[in-house]
Amino acid sequence: MKFFIDTADLEQIKEAAALGILDGVTTNPSLMAKVGIKGTDAVMNHYKLICDIVDGPVSAEVISTDFAGMVREGEMLAEIHPNIVVKIPMIKEGIKAIKHFSTLGIKTNCTLIFSAGQALMAAKAGATMVSPFIGRIDDSNWEGVQLIEQIVNIYGNYGYDTEVLAASIRSPLHIVQCAEAGADIATCPLSSILGLLKHPLTDIGLAQFLEDAKKFA
Ligand code: G3P
Repeated sequence: MKFFIDTADLEQIKEAAALGILDGVTTNPSLMAKVGIKGTDAVMNHYKLICDIVDGPVSAEVISTDFAGMVREGEMLAEIHPNIVVKIPMIKEGIKAIKHFSTLGIKTNCTLIFSAGQALMAAKAGATMVSPFIGRIDDSNWEGVQLIEQIVNIYGNYGYDTEVLAASIRSPLHIVQCAEAGADIATCPLSSILGLLKHPLTDIGLAQFLEDAKKFA
């Protein structure tokens, strides 16, 4: 499974990249706003800085909700760097835009996926990735990981190339559950990635080894 980091924070991206296990980055307008980016030039430059840190797909989301606007924005974003993936919301106009970009060979990530039917439509349109938001589904009292299983199953039935990118990850356990469910990618906060490393028995075992090492040092 590929690991993406879900943030626009350059320091966090650098920290995850330094681990040597980072395959890509996803951003969204909320994450961009969180790091205080304002204005088109600053936004474009920020995506470029991210692409300079990580050699892998970097999702950059369009703000327009009409076909012409999404195409215009998506083309601008795709010109920033070959690793940019144009992130497009799961709406009717978005499906048209995904189909358009797929014909041009521009990569897309269809975001705000909350049902298998939406994921099927995105794959039919030629999306490179789909982003089911599992944490937000859990928040609304359903089981998000079940949606990952469903989409993986459907894509397998028909051999769709569209990658299942589990998003809205809230914990290390979510990452493991997505791996079990067969997600191609998990995009995660840095805290969840680092959380995978933790186990109290590892800490206890290491403390013991270091203590014993003093006996022969
Ligand atoms: O990037 C989209 C997604 O990961 C959002 O996560 O935590 O805002 O539900 P969250």
